[in-house]
Formats: sequence, structure tokens, C-alpha cells
Amino acid sequence: MSAPRLEWTEGTAARDAAWLSGSGTLPPRRVQAVDDTVRADDAFHMACEGVGLLWRGDFQNARQLLQALARRLDKRAARSPLPDDMLMRERFNRYRQGQALRARVLGMVLIPLDAAQVIPLRRAPDVRAALHHALGMPLGDAVVSLRELQGMVGAYEWHRKGVPIAALGGATIHPDFGVFSPIRGEYLDLVARAPLPVGENAFDIGTGTGVLAAVLAQRGVPTILASDLSPQALACARANVERLGLSEQIAVQEADLFPQGRAALAVCNPPWLPGKASSTLEQAVYDPDSRMLRGFLDGLAAHLLPGGEGWLILSDLAEHLGLRSREQLLGMIEAAGLGVIERLDARPQHGKAFDTNDPLHAARLHEITSLWRLRVARS
Ligand SMILES: C[S@@+](CC[C@H](N)C(=O)[O-])C[C@H]1O[C@@H](n2cnc3c(N)ncnc32)[C@H](O)[C@@H]1O
Repeated sequence: MSAPRLEWTEGTAARDAAWLSGSGTLPPRRVQAVDDTVRADDAFHMACEGVGLLWRGDFQNARQLLQALARRLDKRAARSPLPDDMLMRERFNRYRQGQALRARVLGMVLIPLDAAQVIPLRRAPDVRAALHHALGMPLGDAVVSLRELQGMVGAYEWHRKGVPIAALGGATIHPDFGVFSPIRGEYLDLVARAPLPVGENAFDIGTGTGVLAAVLAQRGVPTILASDLSPQALACARANVERLGLSEQIAVQEADLFPQGRAALAVCNPPWLPGKASSTLEQAVYDPDSRMLRGFLDGLAAHLLPGGEGWLILSDLAEHLGLRSREQLLGMIEAAGLGVIERLDARPQHGKAFDTNDPLHAARLHEITSLWRLRVARS
């Protein structure tokens, strides 16, 4: 992996290091070395100006500084609350702008790493395994934002412990860094309970961790081809399939949407919101121009066996946010020559659905995740 370089002056010395980012964020243009003596207000001002604060003090104090910056952002946001009558779509745009600003400002607290990926700071944790998991090989002296580093450490913990999947009888799926993590169980339960069409094989389009292929295998589908475009997802799905002892039933294959051939069932869980991802980590949430949704629907007729079914998994959050209407979705289904056999619904159970402080609470409160059973309506 080649990383961009970060250049700065410290004292009178010109310095440079590799810039590590798992989300594809660019390095700050200006960098200032700071330590425990920096005042939080000054640090906030510099971070808002786009100055990277390269931490030279105690590691735990850097964590506290990050929290202090977050509190200042919260206070600033609380000073200009969104009007109650603001349209949900506009509210969502403002929410995304706020999230982007937060990521930019909090991303300015920077942590140095030596060539062995050790943090040369007092009271610093050992993050080598998490960094190696997220980014691969060491790159010599490097700098990473503390916020990203915390994300990598969290992702590594999920990877190590695994996510227990009720639809797999409690067996765990181990997500890799940057691969969509199946922490919302409701859509998995839908795939576990929808009536299977008659047939021997299935496609899992955009398999991610391989979780849906595993649920289908557990239900007895003899042959499953799981596709993805992301190299991390392909590696992650292969590892999960092997760990679960399902390699006889599931093959993981690189493909843009559909593998070659036809199947009795094709299942797809595309990103649920139409829109542009602002970092690589958002790619599992945002589907630019609904490309994956449309691609799945438009390709179904050519990839289903006679009597076969397509299972589209989609939440209606985009509808509550004003980003897509139900009519538009039904229009896409019809335009692809498909008909709806049945829709199975589930209510999300994840914590955010019940968080009244979430600015999108009103939309999330009404969110329903559906499995649309589709068939070819005309030949
Ligand atoms: C929302 S995630 C769903 C992952 C998994 N199926 C699940 O339900 O947990 C969407 C996945 O589709 C993959 N993807 C996006 N575009 C794709 C394409 N054109 N062809 C194949 N996979 C794609 C992404 O890499 C990602 O792994």
C-alpha cells in the first residue's frame, strides 16, 4: 500500500512521515507539534482552521483533548438548533454537513507512530495488531489521526470477538476493517424466515462478510455463489465461510453484481441510502445514484431461473428522509420487468432507533426494514 506523505517543520527541522488513513481522508496541509500544555480552546481554534495537531505529550491527555474538542463542537451545534418545521431532507443534509465538520475537526488530533508501529508517547496502548489488521504492512514512521486510530482499534475488537448472529444459531461472523458489519439483526432474521423458492442454488450479491450466504447455507441451500467487488470483503467472506465450515456450499467470487449464470434465488442488501459516500467507510451506507439497487433490479430477470426469486433487502429510512419515494422504488421494480410476490417487514432494534437525541430520530422512529420477494413479471 502506498500512503501520502505528511510534511511539517518542528523547531527548525523539516520532518515527514507516511500519512495513514483507513477512510481515505487526505492529510492536513499544515501541522503543528503540540503537547499537554496546549489549551483546549487554542487547539479547537487550530483544528477548526485545518491545522493538524501532532501530539507529543501523554497519550491519555490526547484522548482527553479529543473529548474536549467534541464537547466544543456539541456546544456550537446546540447554539443553532434546527427549526422543528425544517423538512426532513434538509434536516438530513444539515446532519451530514455536521458529521463532516465533526470528522474534519476531530481528525486534526494526530498521533505519531515509529517504524515498528509503536506509539512513542507516554501511557500509549499497543495498537500494532489493530493497525496491521486495518492497514496491512508497516510503512516506516507514520502519522494517524487519533479518531481513526480509535476506529481501527474498535474494528479490530469486533473482528477478534466476532458478531453473534441469531440467524446462525449464535455462531459468530468476524467483520474485517472496512467491511460492512452485520450488527443490525433484523434484516438477517428476514432472510432466515422468508420462504425459500424451489431450487438448488442462490447468489448473494455484495456479500460483505458473507453473512447472508451463511444464513442461506444454514437453511440448506446446497450451492451459493457470493459476489463482491471489494478485495477486503472478498477476503473477509472467504475467512468467515471457512471458519463456519461452509466451504462446500459457498463459493466467494469477485464480480460486479451478478456472477455468470442463473440461480433460483438472488439476494441483495445494497446500501440503504442514495447518496455520495464522503469516505470509504461510508460506502456501505450510501449508494451513489442508487447504482447497486438499480443494478440488482435491472439484472435480476437475466440471472433468475424460471420460477426464481430475487430478495431485495432495503430499509425505508431513505423514504422517511425524503431521499427516495415509495413510488420511485416501485417504479424501479416495474421498469426492471419485476413484480412483488410479498414484502416481509421488521422493525429495527438497534440503539439509534430509540435515541431521542439523534437529530434524525423522527425518521428513524418510523423506519421499517423489508425483504421484497420479487419475481420476473414478463419475459
Ligand atoms: C450494505 S453491504 C451488505 C453486505 C452483506 N450482504 C450484508 O448484508 O451484511 C453492500 C456490499 O455490496 C458490495 N458492493 C457494492 N457494489 C458492488 C458491486 N457493484 N458488485 C458487487 N458487490 C458490490 C460492497 O462492497 C458491500 O460489501
